[in-house]
Amino acid sequence: MTFLKVRELKKHFKDVKAVNEINFEVKKGEIFGLLGPNGAGKSTTISMISTLVHPDGGDIFYKGESILKNPKPLQKKLGVVPQEIALYPTLTGYENLRFWGNVYGLNGSLLKQRIEEVSKIIGIKDRLKHQIEKYSGGMKRRLNIGAALLHEPELLIMDEPTVGIDPQSRNHILDTVLELNKKGMTIIYTSHYMEEVEYLCSRISIMDQGQIIASGSKGELVEIIKGNKRINLKFDNISDTLLGKIKEISYINNVEIISDEVAITTNNGEAIFKDIINKVSETDSSILSIDVKKPNLEEVFLHLTGKALRD
Ligand SMILES: Nc1ncnc2c1ncn2[C@@H]1O[C@H](COP(=O)(O)OP(=O)(O)O)[C@@H](O)[C@H]1O
Ligand SMILES: [Mg+2]
Repeated sequence: MTFLKVRELKKHFKDVKAVNEINFEVKKGEIFGLLGPNGAGKSTTISMISTLVHPDGGDIFYKGESILKNPKPLQKKLGVVPQEIALYPTLTGYENLRFWGNVYGLNGSLLKQRIEEVSKIIGIKDRLKHQIEKYSGGMKRRLNIGAALLHEPELLIMDEPTVGIDPQSRNHILDTVLELNKKGMTIIYTSHYMEEVEYLCSRISIMDQGQIIASGSKGELVEIIKGNKRINLKFDNISDTLLGKIKEISYINNVEIISDEVAITTNNGEAIFKDIINKVSETDSSILSIDVKKPNLEEVFLHLTGKALRD
């Protein structure tokens, strides 16, 4: 039986189709990624799985049972790390964990023991005595994750847990996700960072404008753009003439300037180098370097939507 099944799930806010009849499944023991740009509908989806927002249509099944009909079994086994930090700034880290533990029905020596264990996992044991308002962004994030782990959830949902934090905390969080998963926790991880989802997730759904536009393992998703190549070119100078000449090559699908490089995608890997060199020789620019990129989820997204994942 599928662990978690999302069927025709829908949520509209007036004329905004935040989530528009999406389907996906999460298997027990996996890290499932929901990848999409800001506004794709990830948080709205998460809110519905967390039973905080009631869908306009569709349903979610936890171990075969509708969570709309009976939310209790999932609620008991669910930990949610919301996108917005949910902590009391004037309380200490310890007091915040104790508060969330109480919310989950934990108290006494069991709660004390769980706080001990959780603070080890999130790596902030020595900071628990300090007030949250003295924490860095990364520390707050970690504590927010800790709060969701106190009752040992079977399913952990993390909504963009690394936005706006320092690289060290980010790496720590990614390691923590892998560590928790190794111990058997099923995780749903949302992000607009392609690299994180590629690194962590066994299966991924790519979401855009309220819809899931592709699902699969990273390998399966990259298959969608099989035959497509991404090539980054550096020039001594980039002019409109140069870009115009490159765009004359009929089988180039997309030309973009990314910082000081010209990025092109093509489905004709064979003739491209010769044709580019010919076209460039008709301008007063010269090529400094050519870099053929391995296809990644960024390219899949670009291919499916015609826009970059990072806006
Ligand atoms: N409570 C709300 N009221 C009105 N519009 C909303 C509300 N929540 C989300 N939206 C809109 O729904 C869309 C999806 O938002 P969201 O689920 O937060 O996307 P994401 O988490 O992928 O960035 C956006 O256009 C957002 O503005
Ligand atoms: Mg969001």
